[in-house]
Amino acid sequence: MDIELLIQKAMKARENAYTPYSGFQVGAALLTDDGQIFTGCNIESASYTPSNCAERTAFFKAVSEGIREFQAIAIVGGPAGREELEICAPCGVCRQVMMEFCDPKTFEIILAKNPKEYQTFTLKELLPLGFGPKDLER
Ligand code: THU
Repeated sequence: MDIELLIQKAMKARENAYTPYSGFQVGAALLTDDGQIFTGCNIESASYTPSNCAERTAFFKAVSEGIREFQAIAIVGGPAGREELEICAPCGVCRQVMMEFCDPKTFEIILAKNPKEYQTFTLKELLPLGFGPKDLER
């Protein structure tokens, strides 16, 4: 896995963030099992609740194209115009969407400040005891 490339793609996607209300811009790049990369940015709404996070944008783009197997996601976020980014962790709703499609033990979440500085977590680390599709099997 080319982590630097994935982070670069997330940074590029962040440039498209539509954030007139929060001014907080997030980009994500989602790596599929077959090596494709789907990117996403956050998209806000004047009525607030329809806003969508960058991570879910990337997932929904991929799933709507028929892809359901994923290896990793890189995430970058911070206030618009800020050059130096801090680590931006995914919200609870996005973690739950990851739980729907990813193996929590192996799916990697890369939280990056830039292509060289990042931390990697498994979904299981960020969503311990997560509830997912397996819990509904009978
Ligand atoms: N946001 C994301 O897109 N991903 C995250 O991981 C955290 C938060 C967005 C939602 C909203 O548009 C803005 O950042 C401020 O919460």
